[in-house]
Amino acid sequence: MKSTDNNRNFLKAYLWDKWGQLDRDQEKGVPAPPFQKPYGDDASFVELIKPEDFNVGNIALREALGRRRSRRRFTGDPLTLEELSWLLWSAQGVTGDNEGRRTAPSAGGRHPFETYLAVNRVEGLRPGLYRYLPFEHRLLVMGEVQGLEERMAEVCHGQKFVAGAAVAFFWTALPYRAEWCYSLISHKMIAIDAGHLCQNLYLACEAIDAGVCAIGKYSQHKMDHLLGVDGTDEFAIYGAVVGKTLHK
Ligand SMILES: Cc1cc2nc3c(=O)[nH]c(=O)nc-3n(C[C@H](O)[C@H](O)[C@H](O)COP(=O)(O)O)c2cc1C
Repeated sequence: MKSTDNNRNFLKAYLWDKWGQLDRDQEKGVPAPPFQKPYGDDASFVELIKPEDFNVGNIALREALGRRRSRRRFTGDPLTLEELSWLLWSAQGVTGDNEGRRTAPSAGGRHPFETYLAVNRVEGLRPGLYRYLPFEHRLLVMGEVQGLEERMAEVCHGQKFVAGAAVAFFWTALPYRAEWCYSLISHKMIAIDAGHLCQNLYLACEAIDAGVCAIGKYSQHKMDHLLGVDGTDEFAIYGAVVGKTLHK
């Protein structure tokens, strides 16, 4: 079979016809993997503004949809911590007491992602790498990276506008979270689910007069290395850069 056929078949739904034959850990009684990647005892955190305290994001959905665009030109202004909190919550926030309930949908409620941030300009945050902890709605501090803005642009195959962003979001996939339930069906679902996060981010950005551009073009190896993930059980799948919109 040609590799094009293989890739096209990945997009199709034939495996549902073989549901009973799939090797599924959930069916075997294997405990479900955690919904949030653990962190060490020595971890440090930044508290975010809680969703119930948001004073941002109050535009009509119709307006946000009508204005949505990919934007690559940003002012040098920082985001406020409240704006960043709003964006994180919009893309991956927990909205119910069931772990699968979030602002974005996910097949089977599996949410097989972690959200990483490369922060350049956010009020109250030191530039550096962070990871969003959706269940605690706070940031895990990962540390500073020398020349992070340029490094991100380079990792995104030299897309220069990436360096001008106030913050870059990068989502990793942790496939086993979905494979536990869906086995080989997971991978198509993960790819679809990633789009939901980013569309939420697009709309949330319009609501704070920020611009966003999705990033599908990046070096897999370099991005995984930068984020400190193993590239097998966790790897970068999608990203987006955000900054205050330059109106010109
Ligand atoms: C999956 C995906 C990956 C993308 N990757 C990039 C990218 O790496 N660099 C970029 O400049 N734009 C990227 N874009 C933005 C598209 O180019 C943009 O959505 C398209 O040109 C349509 O423009 P609009 O979003 O303003 O409607 C990506 C968009 C999607 C949905």
